[in-house]
Amino acid sequence: MQRVRIVGTGSYVPQEVITNADLERLVDTSDEWIRSRTGVVERRRAAKDQATSDLALDAARAALAMAGRAVNDLDMIVVATITPDTYCPSAACWLQSKLGMTHGVAFDVNAACAGFIFGLSVCEQFIKTGSARTILFVASEVMTRTVNWSDRESCILWGDGAGAVILTADGEEDGSPLKHGILATNIYTDGTHGEKLQLPGGGSRTTPISHESVSADLHTLRMEGPDSFKIAVRTWSTACLETLEATGLSVADLRWHIPHQANLRMIEAVAKRMKLQMSKVYLTIHKYGNISSATVPITLDEVVRTGQVAPGDLLMLSAFGGGLAWGASLVRW
Ligand code: COA
Repeated sequence: MQRVRIVGTGSYVPQEVITNADLERLVDTSDEWIRSRTGVVERRRAAKDQATSDLALDAARAALAMAGRAVNDLDMIVVATITPDTYCPSAACWLQSKLGMTHGVAFDVNAACAGFIFGLSVCEQFIKTGSARTILFVASEVMTRTVNWSDRESCILWGDGAGAVILTADGEEDGSPLKHGILATNIYTDGTHGEKLQLPGGGSRTTPISHESVSADLHTLRMEGPDSFKIAVRTWSTACLETLEATGLSVADLRWHIPHQANLRMIEAVAKRMKLQMSKVYLTIHKYGNISSATVPITLDEVVRTGQVAPGDLLMLSAFGGGLAWGASLVRW
């Protein structure tokens, strides 16, 4: 089996900033309520002519440049998204076209906000078994197009952006401890709670889109916020601890926990259950909000580009989202 290593990261967020004050003008809310209940101060919104693959393209180019790799070096493109440009072709195929890549394969992975961990796991399998050598993996979302702007409980949470990694084979496993690379990734789902976080419209259940489906708001996100909060804290922290346990490492060994940035109180509750101090948890929620699958790679890219991770540091990447789906990955940098 091949070892799998992250050799480049990149990210992109659109220019337009939506502040809590902007939302105060839209719904009955306040900057104070949003900050204290969610930790979000502002978020980004894609321009009208930007779709998911456009955001992904900028993140991908930055990751390729950091990795010193060209499009010709790639065997595969994987995109994690729940907001593809179109349902067919996939966002990954649009991205492949934008990169001018006429070889290899490209496809999407959908695990909602946990999409980065699921996509990482998929990419790992291809590289470990020798089916692919170098993969561009991007998580990209235009969440603001799925938002019900009159639902004050959820419209305050979401933003747009993309984060990318270049994954490559790093030599045969030989039983010696891994110096760099992905140590373990665990993914989990429980479809029986699917209704707690869903975008009901647009799929085969409701198409063709009708006046009725639009006026019933079926094409915007619905969330049972407090319920999904409770389930998330329990399952998410357990996934992190199980992933550490699988490698014989402990919370004390972590340099950073880079969790999905859904809600600051949720991140704090997960850290508390893990007995992890918040000084080891990297946060970007205040400036970007919840960008679904893209929050983890955008945050990872910030940690890397600001020089806050050194070779050999242990990083935990983790996420929870609709499905329900959740998971964690341990990376030796
Ligand atoms: N501004 C002001 N008041 C608001 C509000 C807003 N934007 N949204 C809700 N409220 C009100 C509610 O109407 C309620 O009022 P009431 O007590 O008079 O009925 C009160 O605030 C408390 O509502 P509640 O839903 O209990 O708040 P909460 O503390 O659970 O926060 C969420 C709501 C959505 C922020 C929170 O539950 C959450 O983030 N959940 C996780 C959701 C999530 O991210 N899940 C997926 C992970 S990817």
